[in-house]
Amino acid sequence: MTPGARMEAAIELLVLIWAGNRPAGRLADEYFGNRRYAGAGDRRAILDRVYAILRHRARLDWWIERTGLGAGPGPRARVIAELALEDKSSAEETAKLFSGATHCPGPLTAAEKELAGALHGRPLDHAEMPRPVMLEYPDWMERSLSALWPQRLPEEMSALNQRAPVDLRVNMLKTTPEAALKSLAGDYLEAEPTPLSPIGLRLTARARLAGTAAYRKGWIEVQDEGSQLISLLCGARPGMDVVDFCAGGGGKALALAASMGADGKIDGTLTACDISGHRLERMVPRLRRAGAEQVRTRVVAARNDEWVAANAGQSDRVLADVPCTGTGAWRRDPNAKWRFTPDDLDDMLALQQRILGLARTLVKPGGRLIYTTCSLLQEENERQLAWFLENHEDFQALPIDGVWAETVGGPPPPAGPCLRLSPASTGTDGFFCAVMERR
Ligand SMILES: C[S@@+](CC[C@H](N)C(=O)[O-])C[C@H]1O[C@@H](n2cnc3c(N)ncnc32)[C@H](O)[C@@H]1O
Repeated sequence: MTPGARMEAAIELLVLIWAGNRPAGRLADEYFGNRRYAGAGDRRAILDRVYAILRHRARLDWWIERTGLGAGPGPRARVIAELALEDKSSAEETAKLFSGATHCPGPLTAAEKELAGALHGRPLDHAEMPRPVMLEYPDWMERSLSALWPQRLPEEMSALNQRAPVDLRVNMLKTTPEAALKSLAGDYLEAEPTPLSPIGLRLTARARLAGTAAYRKGWIEVQDEGSQLISLLCGARPGMDVVDFCAGGGGKALALAASMGADGKIDGTLTACDISGHRLERMVPRLRRAGAEQVRTRVVAARNDEWVAANAGQSDRVLADVPCTGTGAWRRDPNAKWRFTPDDLDDMLALQQRILGLARTLVKPGGRLIYTTCSLLQEENERQLAWFLENHEDFQALPIDGVWAETVGGPPPPAGPCLRLSPASTGTDGFFCAVMERR
């Protein structure tokens, strides 16, 4: 593809991303799935451009508004601003890309030309930018985020605005981290053990995994180190009855299955529930590849589910990986930060409480309920935990360092009563985890 055609593809993809409510990664897969002519190099260049713009969006819009030239924020204006501010592209150079030739973006309008000229060579950051603009988060989260990190907000937000590494979880049902490393090396992929998860590997460079022997044999699964740690903290063991109540596509369910392995098979019962049958279906081929076909999947109703009632008080471990704002996963989906509104957060808090209220009924006395989110907001984390403990006196929170020693091993990252992970503090996605035991 020509540089102009790559630019047009980036604009098309940005239009799709900003038109809807779906994760950018999934839209990109669909977009390139329908454009087989785009080679690996094209794809990389287009995605690098798109993600850079998603990560710079607040600052780009600030500059576009400041110039007041009538080119309101939109995909084309943001691309032009990115080219001027980050690539230091002159108005003439940008006009060459926006040539109007076949597959290239249409020619610059007069306002766009002026924008390109006005921003050319300026730095992306400006001292007059308000803090949420400079650090790229929505205004309405200012209070929550600055209360959470009164001293470290710039450091945390900047780490959250970087690209995430590719972490792999080694499937202990089938192999060991050492053997998986060796197999990857055989396919010329370099990886190293993750700092905290004993079953994790981190690729030293991006690579396509699907063709590797390790992937084909089900030895590895892509999973952020933080998500691996949450799965380990559940303390699922062979012989247990375990429920992953919000299993979705199965990231953590697959890891739980591996924790319950004995002689290469799951020993015990693992049920992966979700309100969405469609999401559970996506798990099925992953279970097959991982050798974890014994995992049962179960669609549950949002309220008063029959299966939940019939299985009340029977589970050793119940994981509630509830829907959340996803603030901790902004590295992967930077556009997600602009999709949520304060009203959405209120709805989410109510949903989280409803799910906790239902999931807890499955836990047997002495069993554990594990509450986790990939959110950084205290509203969804510490405050939900406090609400739950106040309303359910039959549960107590277990100190996380003890749970860590028992389940993950090694020294835990500095933690309070619950676990908090973040890109700046642990090099993982942002997660919260509380482990509660039923008295
Ligand atoms: C954070 S995602 C789960 C991610 C998954 N555990 C993983 O590790 O890949 C939350 C899931 O909760 C599901 N969900 C939403 N409402 C639910 C409910 N009332 N009961 C059970 N699951 C629900 C959503 O469909 C979604 O798949």
